[in-house]
Parts: sequence; C-alpha cells; structure tokens
Amino acid sequence: MGLKHQTPKTSSSKFFSFRYSTIFTLILLFTSFFLFLASLRNVQEPFFRADFPQFNGDLRDAKFPWNKLCFGPTSEKLKLAVFSKTWPVGAAPGGMERHASTLYHELAARGHEIHVFTVPSDRRARWDIHEGNLHLYFAANDHGSVNVSLAFEIFNKANANTEFDYVHTESVSLPHWRAKTVTNVAVTWHGIWYEIMHSKLLQELLSNLKGGQLAELHEAMPRLVEEIRFFRSYTQHICISTSAGEVLVNIYQLPQRNVHVILNGVDETEFTPDQEAGAKFRERHGVPSNASVVMGVAGRLVRDKGHPLLYEAFSSIVRRHPNVYLLVAGAGPWGRRYTKLGPNVKVLGALEPLELSQFYNALDVFVNPTLRPQGLDLTLIEAMHTGKPVLTPNYPSIVGTVVVDEEFGYTFSPNVRSFIEALELAIRDGSSVLKRKGLACKKYVVSMFTATKMASAYERFFLCMKNERYCQYPLPTDC
Ligand SMILES: *[C@@H]1O[C@H](CO)[C@@H](O)[C@H](O)[C@H]1NC(C)=O
Ligand SMILES: *[C@@H]1O[C@H](CO)[C@@H](O)[C@H](O)[C@H]1NC(C)=O
Repeated sequence: MGLKHQTPKTSSSKFFSFRYSTIFTLILLFTSFFLFLASLRNVQEPFFRADFPQFNGDLRDAKFPWNKLCFGPTSEKLKLAVFSKTWPVGAAPGGMERHASTLYHELAARGHEIHVFTVPSDRRARWDIHEGNLHLYFAANDHGSVNVSLAFEIFNKANANTEFDYVHTESVSLPHWRAKTVTNVAVTWHGIWYEIMHSKLLQELLSNLKGGQLAELHEAMPRLVEEIRFFRSYTQHICISTSAGEVLVNIYQLPQRNVHVILNGVDETEFTPDQEAGAKFRERHGVPSNASVVMGVAGRLVRDKGHPLLYEAFSSIVRRHPNVYLLVAGAGPWGRRYTKLGPNVKVLGALEPLELSQFYNALDVFVNPTLRPQGLDLTLIEAMHTGKPVLTPNYPSIVGTVVVDEEFGYTFSPNVRSFIEALELAIRDGSSVLKRKGLACKKYVVSMFTATKMASAYERFFLCMKNERYCQYPLPTDC
C-alpha cells in the first residue's frame, strides 16, 4: 500500500534512486571483483611469490631466475663455443658435465652451431665427434684432462673461419688468464668459494667435538680472496641459485647487470610420479604395508653428504616410531653403518638410473642431509619432479631457490637436534599431508627446473648478448 503512495516520483528522487542503485551495483561489482582477485592471489601464493612479479623490461635487470619467464621460438641461429672440463661418455655423468651435455644437446637440436672444447669423461683417447650441429673437440693432455693451450688453439682456428657469437665456460674450464683475452665470454658457476667457506664452517662446527682441523678453514680464506679477484676476468656470470647471484653482486662486487640466474634443469620425462612403481619398489625391498612414513636418502654415503647427522637423527627417530622406514640409496663407507640401525633401515646400494625414479616414487618424503651448501643438489629437484616433498638443511641456495615455500617440505639447521625436530614434524604430518606437499613440489619444479626451461633461458641469454633487441621482455613472440 505504501508503495502506491510513492509511485508518483519527482525527477530528483528518481535521479537519486537511480544513482544509489548504480553506486550499490558498482560497489557490489567491484567488491566481488576484488574478492575474486584476492582468491586468485591466495591460490597462486605458494607458486608465484612476490619476488616474481609480471616482468616487463630488460632481462639483464632481472633479479630472479630467467627460467621463470616464458621465451618464444626464434629463427636467429647462433654459433657458440663451449669449454667444459669433461664431456659425459658412456658412464653415468656427474653434475657439471651433465649440465653441459643436457644444455648443448638441446641447443644443437634447436639449430644452433655448437663447438665444445673438452675431454671424454672416461679419460680414454677418442676421436672428435661431429653430430649434426654439435661438434666435440677432445683436447687432452697426457693425464686425460683438458690441455687448455691445445683447446685454445683449436678454438682460435674455428673462430678464424666464422667468429663465434658467444663463448661459454662451465666454471673455470676456460681459466681466467685466458678468459681475460676473450671479451664475449659468459661463465656458469656451479659452486663458489663463499659457499664452500660456509660448508667448511659447518663441517668444522660438527667435528669440533672430536677435535676438528682448523687448518682447512685458515687455507680457505685466501682462496676466497683470490677467487673474488679473478672473477673479474670473466665478462658475464651465470649462477645456478638466486643466493649465489646475490653473493656475486654484494660480496664479490660484480656489476648487477653482468650477473644472471639460470637454474639447472632435470629431464622431466625421466622423473615422473608413478604410484605403482613406488609400491612395487617398497615390496621388493621388504618395506611392510603398514609402514606409516617411508623416508629416503640418495647419493654417495660419505661424511660431507651429512650421513653422520642422519645416522644419529634416525637412530633416535626409530626408537620412538617403529613404523617409520628409511631407504638408503647409494654406495660409500656409511652404508655398512646404516645396517646397524635394524630392519627399519634398508640399505639398497648404488641404483641404476631407471631404479632411481622408482626409488623416489617409493618414498613419502625425500631427505637430503648434505653439509655442502655449494651449488644445488639435483637429487632434490629429481625427487620433487617425482612429486615428493623434501626435508633438507636451510642453506641460502636451498631456501632461496628450491624450498621457497613451507608447502614444499621441511628445512632444518644442520645439527642433530634441529634435524630430529624436522623429521618429527614430517612424521606428525603423515603420508596424506606429505602427498599434498608433493603435488605442490611437482607444480613448482615443472615451472622452474626442466631441461627445456633451462635451454630456452640460455638460448635467450646468448641472443641477448649478441643483439640487445633480445634483452627486451616480453617480445611479441614470447608466451
Ligand atoms: C698441450 O698442447 C700444447 C699445444 O698443442 C703442446 O705444446 C703441449 O705439449 C701440450 N701439453 C701437454 C701436457 O700435453
Ligand atoms: C606391522 O606389520 C608387521 C608385520 O608385517 C608386524 O610385526 C607389526 O606389529 C605391525 N605393526 C603395527 C603397528 O601394526
């Protein structure tokens, strides 16, 4: 009834009611839009942290890993020279040579002309290899390591024909006194003395109880000073972790614009989640089906990989948690010691590459107790590609680049007490929380640590060094 009286409205009241309803609708719209944005942010929070903004600008100013960006295809072809201490032939390749091999097979496949100056990893005499765009020159001395003079002679010959667009050296494979004469050179540091000092410090702190050797620490400092001095002989620097990049700028005083972070990639097809393979692996190695949490460690079973820490921590854990198991993959002096911890520890010996993927799949959580903070341990990345969370020391290279979110696992200070606390936390979380964390790990490493991401970041880096136009991001061809 009241409505009827109000029907004949003045124009002004009409205007007001129109305005109020419009404002109300707009407020509603904006609120829901912002709520929507906020919810998006919450969903993305674990994978896109504040330090990875939408990048727009010159790539040389990027203070985060180039892997984070998405580079489009290019028709420009490069001629690159590569110095590498060794090249994997036959036997299982190690860290730095595996990096070179993965990267340059991929870049050659993309049509770039690659000339590698190196020696075979088995140190046997071999003929040079020419596979399509990939040219391997073996320049060995009598001991089977690289004869730098000889390698440089061959390099100069190849450079005289058509000049190389850029020269890349894996660490000091091209020594600094030679690098000084090459202006278009970039070096990838797989570990720096500042990190090695950290590692020596940790080992000293742990061994102090038994009377450590301070002499090693005394020798380490002059080497750091020497390294800081000769790093200037290289023009461009690539680091494999964000923290190493920061040290190169803040401590080594290299120009920010000449320091770049490109993370190492793992062949993502080799390490994939496979629940069935994991279950079979457990059964084959006698892990009972009522095991509550299965942990695993892989690599050489030596002191500086942190096995004394794990041994002590797990012997305490197993007393309180009889259903927690530890799988130990790898060979070394600590293997036999682990067998003393009883049936909850399965010592597997060295594994074949194929078995390694099954091993990761058998775990609830991958443990890496390493006492060496230099470089980045690829086992962490491999485990995460298999969809497993990790439990690892809180080194800057790890918390700044790999375990960048609590959702990816657990970190601890490299001492027994802190290690046990982290293990207890993982056990308390249990297999379903660990599984959820593993999914988050998988999502993160696929966006950062793949061989394809690494190769396309290096490709763009060399393009940018050749032609500044490519330093701009994004280009219309970028994704
Ligand atoms: C290294 O190569 C140079 C140049 O070919 C040669 O003169 C020298 O004898 C070689 N040194 C060794 C240790 O093989
Ligand atoms: C787990 O299974 C084993 C036999 O496979 C048995 O001896 C043990 O008591 C079981 N533990 C629990 C807590 O059920």
